[in-house]
Amino acid sequence: RSGGILEAMAQVRVIPVATLESEAEARILADALQEAGIPLLEVTFRTAVASEVIRYLRRADPLLRIGAGTILSPEQAEQAVAAGAEFLVSPGWEPELGRWCRERRILLIPGVATPSEVMAAWRQGWEVLKFFPAEAMGGVRTLEALAPVFPQIRFIPTGGIQARNLQDYLRLPNVLACAGTWLADRRLIREGQKEELIRRAREARALAGE
Ligand code: 3PG
Repeated sequence: RSGGILEAMAQVRVIPVATLESEAEARILADALQEAGIPLLEVTFRTAVASEVIRYLRRADPLLRIGAGTILSPEQAEQAVAAGAEFLVSPGWEPELGRWCRERRILLIPGVATPSEVMAAWRQGWEVLKFFPAEAMGGVRTLEALAPVFPQIRFIPTGGIQARNLQDYLRLPNVLACAGTWLADRRLIREGQKEELIRRAREARALAGE
């Protein structure tokens, strides 16, 4: 069920991370992303309606590839997958969650912030990892330092990334794509500012070199 997701990430190179409170909010964002040509979306499990929103988007936008973020446990992973999430993202390394996903061949992007966590995730077979919180953990300099030690790992830096520093990350050979909430800004979604959501998504696409 996760066929081609990593390829899509490597191609688009930006992944919006959204905390959505309703189907109406999901509609506004999905329309903006479609308009801008971004076919990927991570919906965080930080609201009670996250599962419903994922279910709705899977039905309403079959071409949008939807993942679930802020997944902390196998229980949440199960809910997200049942709702139709095609990939899962966790903020940190949780071996139980990793095992649960491996056994079911579900794509997990586990969060790491240190070499020890990279090693633990890699030992379980994960080679595409979320580097979080990217800016606070040393950003580009840390990823440059990790590159020669872990040549097999590709990172998705997340946390503090915006248009102004996106290219600094995307230039690094060990960065697959960047993710962040700047492409799914809460205030813009709440206020229904679709034009500004489209502008930001287009700007990110242009910075990522299409
Ligand atoms: C996440 O859930 O990955 C983070 O909230 C993203 O961080 P950002 O808000 O700085 O983009």
